[in-house]
Amino acid sequence: MSNVFVLDHPLIQHKLTYIRNKNTGTKEFRALVDEVSALMAFEITRDLPLEEKTIETPVTEAVTKVISGKKIGLVPILRAGLGMVDGMLRLIPAAKVGHVGLYRDPETLQPVEYYVKLPTDIEERDFIVIDPMLATGGSANDAIHSLKKRGATNIKLMCLIAAPEGVEVIQKEHPDVDIYLAALDERLDEKGYIIPGLGDAGDRLFGTK
Ligand code: URA
Repeated sequence: MSNVFVLDHPLIQHKLTYIRNKNTGTKEFRALVDEVSALMAFEITRDLPLEEKTIETPVTEAVTKVISGKKIGLVPILRAGLGMVDGMLRLIPAAKVGHVGLYRDPETLQPVEYYVKLPTDIEERDFIVIDPMLATGGSANDAIHSLKKRGATNIKLMCLIAAPEGVEVIQKEHPDVDIYLAALDERLDEKGYIIPGLGDAGDRLFGTK
C-alpha cells in the first residue's frame, strides 16, 4: 500500500477515538472532525514546494521561504465532505473549493454528474478530494475521474477512515493519487458500513439521525 499514508499523529488518533464513539453528540462530533481536518491538512501539505524570498525584517535583510508553485483546490464529496472543509481552510485559506455532485444511474450504473462547479484554473491547481468515509470507493473514484476529465493532473485523496475495499478501488483506478487517512479499518459490512468505523458520517455531522 505504498501510496497510502496513515496519519498517526497522537492528536489525530486521540480525537478520532472520540469521533468514533457513539456517545459523542453532533456538536462535539462536528468540532472534532473540524480539528482533525486541520491537523490532517498540516500533514498533507508537508510536500508543498518552497521558494526563497528576500524580505526586510526590522533589523536586517533576510532570505526566507514562501510556498511556491501551484495553488490548491479542495473538492469535498457531498455531503459529509463538507464537514472537513472549514478545518482545511483554516490552514490553507487561499484554497478554492470546488463541488462535484454525482449519483449512479440505477439502470446503467454509470456515474451521472448533476452539479459541477470547479475553479476555472484547474490545470494550475493541486486538488485534494475530501471523502471522510472511503467505503466502496465509488464516489471518490467518480469524483477523481471527473476532475481528471477536466484537466486536473495532481490529485490527493483525504479520508478520515477507509476500508481496504475502497483503498483497493482507488489504487487500481488511480495509481497516481496518494491517499491520506486517519485510520485504515478492517472491512465493510453487508450494508456498506465501515467496521469498526463511526457510523454514518453525514448523519452524525448534520444531526439527521
Ligand atoms: N459512509 C459513512 O458515512 N459511513 C460508513 O461507514 C460508510 C460510508
